[in-house]
Amino acid sequence: MAARLAVTFRKEPPLPDAQQSEYFIAEGLIHSLLRPIKSGKEASVHLCRANRRTTGLELAALKLYHPLNRRDFRDESTYRDGEFIPDRRMQRALEKKTRFGREIQGMVWVDREWETMRSLHAAGVAVPRPVARTGDALLMSYLGDEELAAPQLRSYRPDGPAETADLVDQVLEAARRMLHRNVVHGDLSPYNVLIWQGVATVIDLPQAVDARKNRYAADLLHRDVTRMCQWAEHHGVRRDSDRIAADLWTSWELADLVPEELRGLSL
Ligand SMILES: Nc1ncnc2c1ncn2[C@@H]1O[C@H](COP(=O)(O)OP(=O)(O)O)[C@@H](O)[C@H]1O
Ligand SMILES: [Mg+2]
Repeated sequence: MAARLAVTFRKEPPLPDAQQSEYFIAEGLIHSLLRPIKSGKEASVHLCRANRRTTGLELAALKLYHPLNRRDFRDESTYRDGEFIPDRRMQRALEKKTRFGREIQGMVWVDREWETMRSLHAAGVAVPRPVARTGDALLMSYLGDEELAAPQLRSYRPDGPAETADLVDQVLEAARRMLHRNVVHGDLSPYNVLIWQGVATVIDLPQAVDARKNRYAADLLHRDVTRMCQWAEHHGVRRDSDRIAADLWTSWELADLVPEELRGLSL
């Protein structure tokens, strides 16, 4: 068994990190990859020396999605609910989970993270600034400094209840603003919030859903809020997650009745 495994390992092709990052170097957006920050379920994230003239950044984070066969797709049906795919051939391939379907699924995934990050960043939500993308990689602003990447909230030790309250409220405020842009994160947790210089930034957006279209959006919001409140409770700060989620949803539903051009104005 062990011998067979060893053979399998040797046969596995090297990770295509270099290939995936070539485009960003060729386009003059980054000079080089400095080091890996983290390898997660769906992607590995690298710290890069950015080209300040083209990106306005000294350092950047490059998220390289794993090859499709290595990605651990979350249960798609919940997240894709209510989405319309105009191309019939793509629709069928996705439904039947063919190879072609998996490829499309992979691209849709990157595409959604890019579009969501763009829309939320433009709206002033605390998410990284997206810089550029390919079909399997996304370049964005980096949280941290050259030595140290911003820690995930789960491994951050708040300096007492006041800081815990401040951080959880920052994340809940981000969730409120996201919802205002019709976005529910769908995988909000202390793993997907980074803390840097007192600011909580929300990351990892490919599974985000459209609150207007997805039948599970309210449930996903409730789960997102609950996970954040559980984190706060663990650090001695109580928040009523049911009430917070219900209030967020209700005020979004009411705001949705107001025409877009009037939102944000005090009537
Ligand atoms: N912009 C960033 N700046 C610093 N670190 C980041 C950034 N984006 C991601 N990371 C690090 O990489 C990890 C994985 O990224 P994430 O987008 O959550 O992908 P995954 O789907 O693999 O969880 C994060 O938990 C964080 O530690
Ligand atoms: Mg993550």
